[in-house]
Amino acid sequence: MYIEENQPSKLDSLRKEFLENFGKLSNPEDTFNRLIGFVTLQNLYDSALDEITTKLRILDKEFELVYMHNPIHHTEHRVKDVRSLAKKMERKGCDMTPESAKKNILDIAGVRVICNYIKDIYTVENLLLKQEDIKLIKRKDYIENPKENGYQSLHIVISVPVFLSNSVEEVPVEIQLRTIGMDMWASLEHKLRYKNTFKDTSKYQDELKACSENISQVESHMQNMYNEIYLEND
Ligand code: GTP
Ligand code: MG
Repeated sequence: MYIEENQPSKLDSLRKEFLENFGKLSNPEDTFNRLIGFVTLQNLYDSALDEITTKLRILDKEFELVYMHNPIHHTEHRVKDVRSLAKKMERKGCDMTPESAKKNILDIAGVRVICNYIKDIYTVENLLLKQEDIKLIKRKDYIENPKENGYQSLHIVISVPVFLSNSVEEVPVEIQLRTIGMDMWASLEHKLRYKNTFKDTSKYQDELKACSENISQVESHMQNMYNEIYLEND
């Protein structure tokens, strides 16, 4: 899209309206700039999610065509809402500015990729990281090294370029890759831990970990059957 330099800006009229309505704030101009900064940030991260989810869809479609197998069961994505972003920034002791959010918070844009088999997780990771415009920023493999409570997933933070009218922004996106079983465990464990306010769940720690190990065993078993049926010649 070509933007003429002297085109009237929506920002200017928003600023005028804001200053008329909130002129009594101690520093209305600064408040407005921060507010607009955060709205612009949300938009930028939303665009980064568009880029990544498109890349994932293209890879999955090609796999289906060439190998008759979909590595991806489904994906979910979200931009962190402003309230939980502010809470996280406060927790980390960051300045409450859009610039600081961009520098310090790496999961403003998040994608969860739920794969069919364990091997698919690493296939999808490799195919994404091979792409020229994707840069790896951070990687944690909780499948190779599950967390003490049994949590398993592969977490990568990558950056993807987003082309805007006047600049190109490298935007970080956190991608959590997991199998259907790992996703089931994580989502139930999350509810048990956070949604419940009436019962101490610490005594269930060992049972939850055992559930995670059982799910892993079942998934390895299913992976082996898949390998035997589709990949091995007898
Ligand atoms: P923070 O984002 O500040 O928490 O640090 P981090 O990015 O280093 O954390 P990490 O990559 O370990 O995990 C981030 C995300 O993974 C969380 O927001 C959850 O979505 C998920 N996660 C991590 N640990 C657990 C867990 O024990 N249980 C569940 N259900 N989800 C988890
Ligand atoms: Mg995180």
